[in-house]
Amino acid sequence: MNFPSDYVWQLPFAPSYVASNGLLYCDDAASVLLEFPSNSVSMILTDPPYGVNYRSNAKRTSSSDEIHSPQEGNCIKNDTPIRASMYYSLLIHESQRILRPGGCLCCFAKGGGSDLSFSHYVQLMRRIMEFKQIAVWDRQRLGLGRHYRQCYEFVLVAKKRGAPCKWRGGYGTGNVFRFKRPSGSVFQHPTPKPIELMAHLIEIHSDPGDIILDPFCGHGSTLLAAQATGRRYVGIDIESQHISACEARLERKHDA
Ligand SMILES: C[S@@+](CC[C@H](N)C(=O)[O-])C[C@H]1O[C@@H](n2cnc3c(N)ncnc32)[C@H](O)[C@@H]1O
Repeated sequence: MNFPSDYVWQLPFAPSYVASNGLLYCDDAASVLLEFPSNSVSMILTDPPYGVNYRSNAKRTSSSDEIHSPQEGNCIKNDTPIRASMYYSLLIHESQRILRPGGCLCCFAKGGGSDLSFSHYVQLMRRIMEFKQIAVWDRQRLGLGRHYRQCYEFVLVAKKRGAPCKWRGGYGTGNVFRFKRPSGSVFQHPTPKPIELMAHLIEIHSDPGDIILDPFCGHGSTLLAAQATGRRYVGIDIESQHISACEARLERKHDA
């Protein structure tokens, strides 16, 4: 495996990190996705902002479209309803173009509560791509809320139209994944995903050596999982402190 020298395409952005098996960009995912070459990656696995103005201690701060920076609290950039829906829509449109035949988009979406935005994303996936499945991540910890506290998230799965998607999960793979949610304080990101969960999804939908793209990579759970399973990765995050954390974790090659 040699990366990026067999990476036959170039983006008009300078990567902030180049490794033998991956690239990191500190940029707006919208700009990078729009420039990404067609038919270039095997899987897009990502966890975009959910549109809930997330804060780890104050949680939902308002229903307005107010933007928060991480310095204001432990929050996610662009996590307002309008912005999240704009990024989700762009992600679905561009995934259909960027994925190689046989590739799929696995995208986390908020599950539970009265917010049904996931249903709009499913409808959009049906129109633009080929919708495949709503899987559930059982976080095995109590989350936000007071009545029916949130314990799960959805993983919306859609495949590029025109070819069967890669499937390495055999007949024994169910649609509920049980992996304990890491503690945010350990990883210093408000919403880290377990690397084991990301590795499981990657192994189901890609082959060793494939390129996995995460346009909202945070502290890099997708990228670490790609590295651990012998895939290559491209990660994008708008926050430089998150990209620095990714670099440190990837260099350590384990999850300390
Ligand atoms: C839910 S978090 C991802 C967490 C990640 N799965 C992990 O395990 O660390 C969403 C990420 O999207 C990033 N983000 C928000 N707006 C963005 C944009 N326009 N372009 C790229 N990244 C963005 C945030 O900085 C945040 O790290």
